[in-house]
Amino acid sequence: MTTALGTDRPTMTSADYHRWAAEVRSLAEQRGAVILAHNYQVPEIQDVAHFTGDSLYLSRIAAQTDAAIIVFCGVHFMAETAKILSPDKRVLLPDHAAGCSLADSINADQLRAWKAEHPGAVVVSYVNTTAAVKAETDICCTSSNAADVVRSIPEDTEILFCPDQFLGAHVKRVTGRHNMHIWAGECHVHAGISPSDVRAKVAAYPDADILVHPECGCTTSVLDLISSGDLPADRTRVLSTGGMVEAAATTVSGQVLIATETGILHQLRGLNDRAEFIAMNDRATCRYMKMITPAKLLTTLREDTGDIAVPADIAAKARAAVERMIAIGSPGRGGE
Ligand code: 13P
Ligand code: SF4
Repeated sequence: MTTALGTDRPTMTSADYHRWAAEVRSLAEQRGAVILAHNYQVPEIQDVAHFTGDSLYLSRIAAQTDAAIIVFCGVHFMAETAKILSPDKRVLLPDHAAGCSLADSINADQLRAWKAEHPGAVVVSYVNTTAAVKAETDICCTSSNAADVVRSIPEDTEILFCPDQFLGAHVKRVTGRHNMHIWAGECHVHAGISPSDVRAKVAAYPDADILVHPECGCTTSVLDLISSGDLPADRTRVLSTGGMVEAAATTVSGQVLIATETGILHQLRGLNDRAEFIAMNDRATCRYMKMITPAKLLTTLREDTGDIAVPADIAAKARAAVERMIAIGSPGRGGE
């Protein structure tokens, strides 16, 4: 079946996929490259990659791999993070225009000014930030270990958390941390998954499990709805994309509502054909993630192009913050 890009469905015929995948894997082997794909990539890329997972899982693979080349199928900050962790390896990104609206919501000058207002505070930055922002950061986190990262900081120390306001509010809630200041950034895809989307889908699928990414604009309302008894606490979880993959494999529910970028549905449906996985909002598609197309991945491997560079001084400052991040949290594909 051939359908438009931006859905969780394949974009190639099966015969075309097999031809393309064979060439991609053979070129990767010739060049000594490992292919990493984020859970929001198009289905063909998720399937052809050597490793597919969430941000923390892919960062760990990038730090540990013996491959000489990492081909990163994700967005720019992810490839930069891999380069920071493995400065002696080549990291290739098939389209350097694959950015991130959340990473764009704070720059290094803004972070320096914020730090000056709070001397002595520890800076926790979400991994969805530029290398320059990471260089001004004490410890990075991802959606799967953000609460553990905050808990690792002494309780009387002020925290500056950036840039995602919804993840920040979620972490503040689960850790009970009072001295945590939160930057008002957001991801346009997750901010667009609204409380009204949740109400409509829960009314249509009243028995479904509910999995929500903490970057979502609806996270706070989901938790308010649980408190008021309008959503079932035992069937609702706030998870990273890797946590959703783990939950999907073991759910006994027949229907699961998924509040995140729709590319993940391909992973979930592949893991469990007993359950129906339903997008909370079908339009939650990240145009940056979809810039990495099968054709661009093949060109990158054929032409050996797309190198990511991070200035050595910035990389050196950012590395400590990213290494602290990968040391914290479970080693799986991402949990709560
Ligand atoms: P995780 O895969 O770490 O949950 O991150 C989601 C995301 O938005 C990456 O862009
Ligand atoms: Fe960035 Fe949002 Fe796209 Fe993730 S889904 S890469 S946070 S814009």
